[in-house]
Amino acid sequence: DKGNHRHFMSKEIHEQPEVVSHTLASFVDMVDETIRLPENLPFDWRNLRRLTISACGTASFAGMIAKYWFERYARLPVEVDIASEFRYREAPLEEGGLAIFVSQSGETADTLAALRYCKEQGQHTLAVVNVPTSTIARDSDVVVRTLAGPEIGVASTKAFTCQLAALASLAIGAGKARGTLSVEQERELVHALIETPRLMAEALHLEHEIESFSRDLAKASDVLYLGRGTSYPLSLEGALKLKEISYIHAEGYAAGELKHGPIALIDETMPVVVIAPYDHIFEKTVSNMQEVAARGGRIILITDAKGAAAASMATLKTLVLPEMPALVTPLVYSVPIQLLAYHTAVIIGTDVDQPRNLAKSVTVE
Ligand code: F6R
Repeated sequence: DKGNHRHFMSKEIHEQPEVVSHTLASFVDMVDETIRLPENLPFDWRNLRRLTISACGTASFAGMIAKYWFERYARLPVEVDIASEFRYREAPLEEGGLAIFVSQSGETADTLAALRYCKEQGQHTLAVVNVPTSTIARDSDVVVRTLAGPEIGVASTKAFTCQLAALASLAIGAGKARGTLSVEQERELVHALIETPRLMAEALHLEHEIESFSRDLAKASDVLYLGRGTSYPLSLEGALKLKEISYIHAEGYAAGELKHGPIALIDETMPVVVIAPYDHIFEKTVSNMQEVAARGGRIILITDAKGAAAASMATLKTLVLPEMPALVTPLVYSVPIQLLAYHTAVIIGTDVDQPRNLAKSVTVE
């Protein structure tokens, strides 16, 4: 049932404040503002020396974002890889390490093969899955559930932000267990998580603005997405979302990589979506934007009020989100990224919920 929505994808985008809140509730003590991880884990966070994350597509971008969190908050080195590469690479893994698998369906063939490889290599396995009865859930030592509910649209939206909510909670819990976060830091981070559903609801208010502006994007034949830090994997996700439902060619890049190649593509016909909350690397991203502007590129800036003021340059469009702690920007900035892809596809007239050539669950490699 799509409710009042034209497509499942729209319904699922709008459900995010609620399902993210649901997912967080299984890890967060709302009163004490602390994280509670599952007890009796078969491993001790303090003894881990490395974490391996494997997944495909959108779930792999959730894994890439989680790498920034585990490394920053738990001081745990993370290797993240797409499962189809990881499974055949014969990566050496130290006995007793932890491997995390992220999957909405829990049935993705490559992710399942990566899980089996890690088990053979003596890893503890933890699955972040949305379908609790799935093969990946059944075969993993620990199951962490995302409570997104059934996701019908082929393009993943709410499952992705719920994966982020679960992984952020795990990273903070790991930091707490490893003693790399103080009680005060933990409380600040958890407070930020608790605020996230409200911030996502605010982000949904940008919908009309995004919808009217999508007409411009629908005319493009190529779109570049740029970001730094956790906004870099989010730029990969933005590009994937746009290409899979609108069939417009799009690429995501780390903003710092611009001058190492993709800048050659930029001209007046090329929209460049810049994902840049006002943070410690904002100024670096601004200098990349200036390089784009100098070559006539048309900038769509997604930022907050401070970022909009500090960027002080002409953009085709600036979308202004509330200010928020760095931890939660990937969850909240997902909303305009998804809406942009959605409305562009609706204008073009593609089959948004069932894009050509795609299947919801990829059970063959
Ligand atoms: C993109 C998308 C795919 C999936 C990928 C993994 O919108 O939906 O990239 O994320 O096929 O699927 P799961 O999470 O079921 O393992």
